[in-house]
Amino acid sequence: MRLVAFLRDNNKQRMTKGALDDFKVMFTRNEPLTGLARAVAFLVIFALGVVAGLWAAAGARQSSGAVGGIVRPRIMQLRSAAVSSYQPAAASAADGTVCCRPDPDAGFTEFVAPTRLMHSMSDEELFWRATLVPVASEFPFRRVPKVAFMFLAGHGALPLAPLWERFFRGHEELFSIYVHAPPGVVINVSESSPFHGRQIPSQETEWGKVSLMDAEKRLLANALLDFSNERFVLVSESCIPVHNFTTVYGYLVGSEQSYVEVYYRNTKQCRNRYSRWMAPDITLRQWRKGSQWFELQRDVATSILADTRYYPLFRRYCRPSCYPDEHYVQTYVAMRHGGANSNRTVTHVDWSTGGAHPVAYGAREATPELVRSIRTSWETCTRNGRPTSICYLFARKFAPEALAPLLNMSAAVMEY
Ligand SMILES: *[C@@H]1O[C@H](CO)[C@@H](O)[C@H](O)[C@H]1NC(C)=O
Ligand SMILES: *[C@@H]1O[C@H](CO)[C@@H](O)[C@H](O)[C@H]1NC(C)=O
Ligand SMILES: *[C@@H]1O[C@H](CO)[C@@H](O)[C@H](O)[C@H]1NC(C)=O
Ligand SMILES: *[C@@H]1O[C@H](CO)[C@@H](O)[C@H](O)[C@H]1NC(C)=O
Repeated sequence: MRLVAFLRDNNKQRMTKGALDDFKVMFTRNEPLTGLARAVAFLVIFALGVVAGLWAAAGARQSSGAVGGIVRPRIMQLRSAAVSSYQPAAASAADGTVCCRPDPDAGFTEFVAPTRLMHSMSDEELFWRATLVPVASEFPFRRVPKVAFMFLAGHGALPLAPLWERFFRGHEELFSIYVHAPPGVVINVSESSPFHGRQIPSQETEWGKVSLMDAEKRLLANALLDFSNERFVLVSESCIPVHNFTTVYGYLVGSEQSYVEVYYRNTKQCRNRYSRWMAPDITLRQWRKGSQWFELQRDVATSILADTRYYPLFRRYCRPSCYPDEHYVQTYVAMRHGGANSNRTVTHVDWSTGGAHPVAYGAREATPELVRSIRTSWETCTRNGRPTSICYLFARKFAPEALAPLLNMSAAVMEY
């Protein structure tokens, strides 16, 4: 009886603390509280009050049955277990005394949306964790769908970061950033930058090798650990957003399909990269190619990390001049999630000059005319079964020297 009462109090405290945390988040932002935000805050407080009241009433009635008393501590146990696997330092400090355990409130928040991205999980452990999908249809927190921007950065880190910072400004609740930079490279940004502290544990990658695909999977897996991430965009250090955040967010979150470019051609660069050793799991009829720069919905992203059947075939048989980053996700998504794919990419790139690398835009080529022509396409694309002139949300590849002209035109042309 006393135990149940203790648990009930503990739970009430947790609720109150949760609400306080929400407020801390709200007040530490620089934006002014809009009318809507105030209304939402009011509703949240009101709902919390009602819930707390109902809970206290229900708890009093149930105290002899103690149903809640059995289930709840178990959930808390799981939470703190998850925390200790995240923070080896905190776990080793805990010598079994209650004083040193990590705060269970921070633990749950950290479990559903990790803020400390560095961890000591191996790829195998990380990829497995990323495939965990809740069976419950509802979340015990306010889940606002977010877009995960996954930056695959090279040694030059993120030369266009100032442009992206402008793009992200004011939308902090609706996105999360993940950066895979080569080991040892530290992205030097100020603490107020959305890129601050967003590097994930990385490994060396080689252009065209399977290690590049491993890095893409590492980005996806880390992004999947945040249960609010709903869409997953892979971008490179030379990518820019050609529309503002509102447009990009609405376009992706409101889309019924993923954007993975998928095609087949009877050419040296497509058909000839297929290896017969991949049969019977992957036949030539199933072989696909497409742009490396994909955009995925959550269940497709999870499915890719759960795949242990096809990926080893790419590791073994897709070697130069077969490039896993142009075939693995494309073939897999076409085979397993064809109906959930638009078969096109939302990242514009110009291959018109031929060769192994696309056109790179320097300071002189990065003109308002170029960006306008990418924002509104002369061709029509299909989104949710309807035609649209917005085919591309992002574009590459822009050299670091293009930053100044891009910043100069961002408000007038890209509307951010
Ligand atoms: C990071 O940037 C700041 C300001 O631009 C500069 O003073 C500092 O030297 C840089 N640090 C490194 C390690 O590059
Ligand atoms: C994309 O291709 C798949 C076959 O791989 C097909 O089932 C699907 O209908 C196509 N999607 C669109 C939007 O054309
Ligand atoms: C900035 O844009 C304006 C037009 O909006 C143009 O007149 C000016 O030359 C541009 N400056 C640079 C440095 O590109
Ligand atoms: C974002 O872009 C859309 C479409 O181009 C435009 O209608 C909207 O006003 C822009 N939003 C902001 C905040 O500039």
